[in-house]
Amino acid sequence: MAFKYGGKVDFPITVTLGRGLEGAITNESSIGYVDGQEGKLVYRGYDVADLAEHSSFEETAYLLIFGKLPQKDELDEFDRQLKENRDIDPKIIDILKKLPTTAHPMSKLEVAVSSLGCFDPITINNVEIGTQAGIKLISKLASVTAMLARIRKNQDIIAPRKDLRHAENFMYMISGEIPDELTTKVMDMALILHADHGMNASTFTSMVVASTLSDMYSAICAGICSLKGPLHGGANEFSLENLIKLTSETEARKWVQDCIKNKVKIMGFGHRIYKVYDPRARIFKRYAKEICEQAGKSDLYKIAEVVEDEVVKAYGSKGIFPNVDFYSGLIYNSLGIDTSLFTPIFAVSRVAGWVARILEYLPNSRIFRPRAVYTGPTDLKYTPMEER
Ligand code: SDX
Repeated sequence: MAFKYGGKVDFPITVTLGRGLEGAITNESSIGYVDGQEGKLVYRGYDVADLAEHSSFEETAYLLIFGKLPQKDELDEFDRQLKENRDIDPKIIDILKKLPTTAHPMSKLEVAVSSLGCFDPITINNVEIGTQAGIKLISKLASVTAMLARIRKNQDIIAPRKDLRHAENFMYMISGEIPDELTTKVMDMALILHADHGMNASTFTSMVVASTLSDMYSAICAGICSLKGPLHGGANEFSLENLIKLTSETEARKWVQDCIKNKVKIMGFGHRIYKVYDPRARIFKRYAKEICEQAGKSDLYKIAEVVEDEVVKAYGSKGIFPNVDFYSGLIYNSLGIDTSLFTPIFAVSRVAGWVARILEYLPNSRIFRPRAVYTGPTDLKYTPMEER
């Protein structure tokens, strides 16, 4: 929207105001590219579909942070550091256990990351220290999330194992059982697919905090706070909750029609950048079919397809298609993961992108400080209380 500024002229007379910062550019980055017209997502030059098929979360996190695919010894060392940092201080576990059972795991994750920061008081005003903290956080966020899953169910905490891969250990710490190959593969892929996505709300939030030269823990905590919202990462939970309420294809079609009639936004659809099918949703959809079948939840998958069909029929011409949050929930649900854990899992992955982008920005960091267009008066005189 072009906006005529009528107040004090200390910045350009005509400014373009993109609601929700639409069209605004924050910085240059070589970490990842979201091609909203072609429906393509690239990390450091590599198509995410290729990475989802062939890479691992550990390797992808390395790629995002260090800018290249690692040599074997480099990946081994990175992996060693991730494994070494899996333990969580018992004092932090005590803090988490004292929080209300009913609190959302994302709120508890915020507490956990702030607490981790209290026990590791470092700063990120240099790349070396920020990298160390970032690696710790990538490792510990998975442990903490798995612990929160067990605390929520009043189950004993399962200590991390150092011999398992990142996704494998994460699932092991949730269930107490070493996951089968397909489960590990699918969780690994989910972590790869969520790891970075341009200047999304949570990435921007964490970068704004980091740009003040605050510490890595505070920046990542802020990212978690932002990711929690239902318009962002939180959509995966709402989307699945909507789907499991629908018991037949007819009911599913009617539900979508009612949403359209009442102008209710349908969770798991639409995107600021993608005006075509989200490439991540395409990959999730493929696996969702297989995993749902394996879990005896083919009906749930069919309901999801019907919802997609109805939404795309109504809104496809407006560029509204399933986004990353639509089919991911089906997969997690079929793997036996509680809905309240879906958004924390998003954070377990996205922390790699947050860390990478903060570290990339840091050497030339300048505090983010945009302006608002002031539309109020500037010449009012203060009136004492009794004269108002
Ligand atoms: C993620 O940005 C990222 O990269 C985020 C993410 C990542 O990896 O980090 O991809 C992860 O957050 C995915 C999005 C999860 N959120 C949802 O699924 C919630 C439902 N989706 C929408 O609320 C919406 O599409 C957003 C929040 C995703 C995007 O919001 P925008 O760009 O501000 O779009 P908008 O709300 O201004 O909508 C534009 C138009 C409107 O119609 P008109 O008023 O122009 O006629 O599209 C319509 C909207 O009503 N619309 C929808 C819709 N999404 C947009 N209509 C129905 N259902 C929807 N889901």
